Amino acid sequence: MSDKIAYSRQGDIAILTVQNPPVNALSQAVRQGLSEGMDRAEADDGVRAVLIVGEGRAFFAGADITEFGKPPLEPHLPDLINRIEASPLLVVASMHGVSLGGGLEVALGCHYRIAVPSAKVGLPEVHLGLLPGAGGTQRLPRLTGVEAGLNVMTTGRHIGAQKAHELGIIDVIEDGDPKQNGIAYAQRLLDEGAARRPVSEMPPPAPIDWDAAFEAILAKGRGQIAPAWCVRAVQASVEKPFAEGLKAERHIFYDLMQTDQRQGMIHAFFSERAVGNLPELKGIKPRGIQHIGVIGGGTMGAGIATAALLAGLEVTLLEMSAEAGQAARDRIERNLSGAVKRSKITPNQHDQILTHTLVVVTNYDKLSDVDLVIEAVFEDMDVKKKVFAELDRVCKPGAILASNTSYLDIDKIAATTSRPSDVLGLHFFSPAHVMKLLEIVVGDKTAPEVTATGFAVGKMLGKISVRAGVCDGFIGNRILASYRTAADQMILDGASPYDIDEALEDFGFAMGPFAVADLAGLDIGWAVRKRKRAEGHAPKRDATYADKLCEDGHFGQKTGKGYYDYAGGLKTRVPNPDVLPMIEADRARLGITPRSFTHEEIVRRYMAAMVNESAKVVGEGIARRPLDVDMTLLFGYGFPRYRGGPLKWADIVGLEDLLKDIKSYAAEDPDFWAPAPLLERLVADNKTFDDLNKKG
Ligand code: 3HC
Ligand code: NAI
Repeated sequence: MSDKIAYSRQGDIAILTVQNPPVNALSQAVRQGLSEGMDRAEADDGVRAVLIVGEGRAFFAGADITEFGKPPLEPHLPDLINRIEASPLLVVASMHGVSLGGGLEVALGCHYRIAVPSAKVGLPEVHLGLLPGAGGTQRLPRLTGVEAGLNVMTTGRHIGAQKAHELGIIDVIEDGDPKQNGIAYAQRLLDEGAARRPVSEMPPPAPIDWDAAFEAILAKGRGQIAPAWCVRAVQASVEKPFAEGLKAERHIFYDLMQTDQRQGMIHAFFSERAVGNLPELKGIKPRGIQHIGVIGGGTMGAGIATAALLAGLEVTLLEMSAEAGQAARDRIERNLSGAVKRSKITPNQHDQILTHTLVVVTNYDKLSDVDLVIEAVFEDMDVKKKVFAELDRVCKPGAILASNTSYLDIDKIAATTSRPSDVLGLHFFSPAHVMKLLEIVVGDKTAPEVTATGFAVGKMLGKISVRAGVCDGFIGNRILASYRTAADQMILDGASPYDIDEALEDFGFAMGPFAVADLAGLDIGWAVRKRKRAEGHAPKRDATYADKLCEDGHFGQKTGKGYYDYAGGLKTRVPNPDVLPMIEADRARLGITPRSFTHEEIVRRYMAAMVNESAKVVGEGIARRPLDVDMTLLFGYGFPRYRGGPLKWADIVGLEDLLKDIKSYAAEDPDFWAPAPLLERLVADNKTFDDLNKKG
């Protein structure tokens, strides 16, 4: 028998214990072992019931995702589950940890389900671009009804044992050891003479308006198709006999398996886990971090302090004056109240944090015992240099000095201290207590132990941390500057900001670039443009309409007007009528005759700029691997997860075609559209970006 399943017996009960660490994924060997275990139990004299239970952290985390995209291996999971359900023996699942996807589907194929209170169940296949493909769409609605079942599978969320019990997914909740609980429960069922209870034999639930549900879920998915297809599979569970419904589910599952969206989402799943895994940090021990200092309590400083406080760290925040300190405290208070509303902390913890864990000061000497300090003052090199000189003076030896700068040179900041090896960038995204991305910017002199500590802090704060090298804007903002320039150039040539936003929102971005600019504040881009002009780095055709908006006091959402007018509320944006005339004035000044752009052309140019700059960022070693860029754009810039990231998208559409596009655009502006050498090399060698990820 497969060594992934241990067979044992207690009285009339055969026990199949799954041993496939870390999370009992249902690999071929596990499926084989379960099938053999059922055969053995059925042939074993005196056995009347079978208990399936997982060892270690979980019942089952689902199908083995590493097998996807390869030829399927027997026994297939749906067949195995049918086989378990059809057994003449009474089959019980005892669940702990997670039972996800195929894992929950195995449990639904059992006749009875018991779980510990901390167990979680879910059908997260949509997060992989799939739907439950081993009977989940057919069995679950028979237990929960259509609406609740669809909710579980279209959101992919994890559900606690209590809720799952209320929905009819779990029969009994009992604290204790899952194996012992399962044995006792199976024995009770035998003693009571309980009958086998195959879910497939239960009557199908009542129908709903399938077309309306399909359309509503499709619209919500911003282009992602898998959740909507759950509706069609569940429809089959209601309208067809069980075996036919199962076939319909399988058909859709295999269709989804062939899609680019499945490729993109599985790339995201593994990259999200690989991103913090850097060979250079293997075996390097991070420094201990308990107490952090934050300099500046504006938008970012308050958000960073909130994130740290929510993670249980002590925070000392320094502001310029008592008034500014109070304003910072008020911001943090608002953030923490939000966390109470979302049940992340209790009202008691909220009060405790504000009275004990957070200290707001105006004097640097109060930072003498912090383990890490994160500077988030104005984006001005002279101001930052002064702050770091002070930190160098007061912080204890071994304290890590970090800057949250968006663009400035970490090496120059480090050079103002006597301890450049302790300096790095920790670049958060706004709002810092919500956004998942953290860029860890490693300077020339940053010690590996300090980088490792950056990653450890990211983990404590629940962030996806990406290593970045030093350059103007690091990974994310540097790439953003490039695709924003492409967008600005399209505007000069005739597109409107509203066409561009619409095209990119149709592509799957949560918001188009101009709506994002309004959200972030137009003053940020204004300051960058002014700096670049002063440094002689202005684009050849320099648009000024965005400056004019700022000169008129319109900074986006925070002033009620930017590219859009928010007079009707932040959610009801309408184009600001002043913007198009400002753009027309720019075109007239530059002698440009506008032309029209299709949405497809907008997306191609925008994405070409994004991919070309991304390839430069990887080629120069600013990002270690293509997947680091992909995760930066996914977690910090609203790139649609189902497309995997810009470089995964590039691999899927084909690098050769993209390079052709870039070369054709280069005829208009050879400097901006100079092809990335890495992209040219990959095309010449017939390789993909993903090939570079595999090298590690
Ligand atoms: N298959 C293969 N490997 C898996 C896996 C799976 N289903 N689930 C997790 N792993 C791997 C991870 O890649 C990771 O590997 P690494 O250590 O080499 O990086 C390791 O197991 C541990 O995972 P995490 O680091 O994510 O551990 P956590 O404790 O943070 O989370 C988890 C555990 C909640 C189970 C999380 O891993 C998860 O959500 N896994 C995916 C669950 C899922 O999507 N299941 C559905 C699969 S599709 C399916 O079942 C199709 C069916 O309907 C036919
Ligand atoms: P902000 O203007 O909201 O806050 C800056 C705060 O720093 C103010 O409260 C100010 O009183 C304080 N401050 C200024 N000089 C100080 C000094 N010498 N000592 C102590 N406090 C001082 O600015 P914001 O947006 O929070 O940005 C801060 C930093 O974070 C900048 O470097 C910015 O580039 C970076 N950043 C900003 C993001 C954003 O979306 N706003 C995103 C990521 C990084």
